[in-house]
Amino acid sequence: MTSMHNVPLASLQTLDTLDTPAAVIDVPRMLHNIQRMQSRMTALGVSFRPHVKTSKCVEVAHAQLAAGAAGVTVSTLKEAARFFDDGVTDILYAVGMVASKLPAALALRRRGCDLKIVTDSVASAQAIVAFGAEFGETFDVWIEIDTDGHRSGIRPDDDALLDVARVLHDGGATLGGVMTHAGSSYDFDTPEALAAIAEQERAGCVRAATRLRDAGLPCPVVSVGSTPTALAAAHLDGVTEVRAGVYVFFDLVMHNVGVCTTDELALSVLTTVIGHQAEKGWAIVDAGWMAMSRDRGTQKQKRDFGYGQVCRIDGSVMPGYVLSGANQEHGILSREGEPDPDIVTRFPIGTLLRILPNHACATGAQFPEYHAFGPDRELATWPRLHGW
Ligand SMILES: Cc1ncc(COP(=O)(O)O)c(C=O)c1O
Repeated sequence: MTSMHNVPLASLQTLDTLDTPAAVIDVPRMLHNIQRMQSRMTALGVSFRPHVKTSKCVEVAHAQLAAGAAGVTVSTLKEAARFFDDGVTDILYAVGMVASKLPAALALRRRGCDLKIVTDSVASAQAIVAFGAEFGETFDVWIEIDTDGHRSGIRPDDDALLDVARVLHDGGATLGGVMTHAGSSYDFDTPEALAAIAEQERAGCVRAATRLRDAGLPCPVVSVGSTPTALAAAHLDGVTEVRAGVYVFFDLVMHNVGVCTTDELALSVLTTVIGHQAEKGWAIVDAGWMAMSRDRGTQKQKRDFGYGQVCRIDGSVMPGYVLSGANQEHGILSREGEPDPDIVTRFPIGTLLRILPNHACATGAQFPEYHAFGPDRELATWPRLHGW
């Protein structure tokens, strides 16, 4: 495991003194996850650009950069501004650019941020070059490629790829490369299927780059990635960089996909038992969906964890105990299958528990800050960015 050296933790308080619900980060687990991914990327011979939308937290991003990441990926321009203020200059804004957001992108570049933007349409490409010409700015633009039919992007063999590239190149923008995200990798859960979608992602993006180069157009960067494909790829020939986000915390969805164990889940929600419905086998906790989020990502997977897996305060999993239901501020804790007749004595009122979330990005987003703890359970407060 990586040393705690670069992660600021102050001896402020311990986990059992926090107000609940609270989002807590197990820092040794997080550093292990960062190291695991970074070593893999190094072994595969690619540079790594973590997607910081998972944590939206500069302390977490610092740990990723300290481990060797070359830059970051963001999902909002607000994130870009925050991370740039914090000293990160190499930033990819990986959501399709539209004209209305160009002034904010320009402002960042004028301040010295090496911001890259993406597009997958002629209309946006035209808006980018027109705005760039008007303000004398050469935007660095990557073309988004659709390698799995999951959401946006241009199919690798589509004529539109060359149309968009020519608008950018001829209009004076820097054609920085191609990028893709095989989000459908979340739908698989066997090593073979994950390796196949990783190869599809790689081959499709390399194919798009080859078409651009064959047409005499520049395409220095070939950027791919999601957590499952990054961890499943057999090789990354032709790829220059990988992006992954949720690996930093992992979550129950990734556990079901098969790319982590529950011992690697670094984000959990600290909660207090506030009551019981003994005859139903329920304990009631103060983490409802407002704390866990409404994300029920494991519902359609091989194992449904409800709103989360229950753990003791030391992080050890209590097999079979899940948050089976959630109101806004009430979580319903029960045993899968048969109700637990000993629920009241097993979970007395006031008991502190930790709940592992379905989707770390969504659960983190419910909280303004994280409480990060090190090996001795010393705590630090790490702010989390909100909004757009
Ligand atoms: C463009 C882009 N790149 C990379 C990622 C990282 O994916 P993951 O969180 O599975 O690592 C995402 C996640 O949605 C994404 O949208």
